[in-house]
Amino acid sequence: MARFRWRTLIICLACILVISAWSFWIADASDAIFQSLRCGLCHKPDRKSAGPSLPEIARAYSGQQQGLVQYLKGESEPLLDFGKRQMMEPKLARTREISDTERRDLADYILSFRGK
Ligand code: HEC
Repeated sequence: MARFRWRTLIICLACILVISAWSFWIADASDAIFQSLRCGLCHKPDRKSAGPSLPEIARAYSGQQQGLVQYLKGESEPLLDFGKRQMMEPKLARTREISDTERRDLADYILSFRGK
């Protein structure tokens, strides 16, 4: 009986380890695209810089993942245009080229700042 419980415990721990490694990997994957396209130069997690902060964008697109994906695809107008639209143009040229999955990851990463 004792041996059975040990084995259950070990299996539980292994599951927890696998699940947390997996969620870290997911978080890393979307963050990696944001980093590699250097969006963070103008979009900070905690304050406005050259562009709106990440929580500000996440608020504007709250519940509209699809709308954000469309914007990144160059298929919709910006919601928060402060007359600085041309600053995003070179980056939008890049986000138009990446895959649908990468655009969705990027949108999910940005939307994860909602309420932060
Ligand atoms: C050179 C600075 C700069 C960089 C780099 C940059 N942005 Fe922006 N971004 C801006 C500015 C300025 C705005 C505000 C103008 C606007 O909303 O059109 C903006 C707005 C946005 C918006 C809000 C659009 C809306 O509906 O108003 C999103 C989403 C966004 N950027 C995503 C990104 C992503 C993703 C990247 C990386 C691929 C990126 N930005 C890189 C300057 C930048």
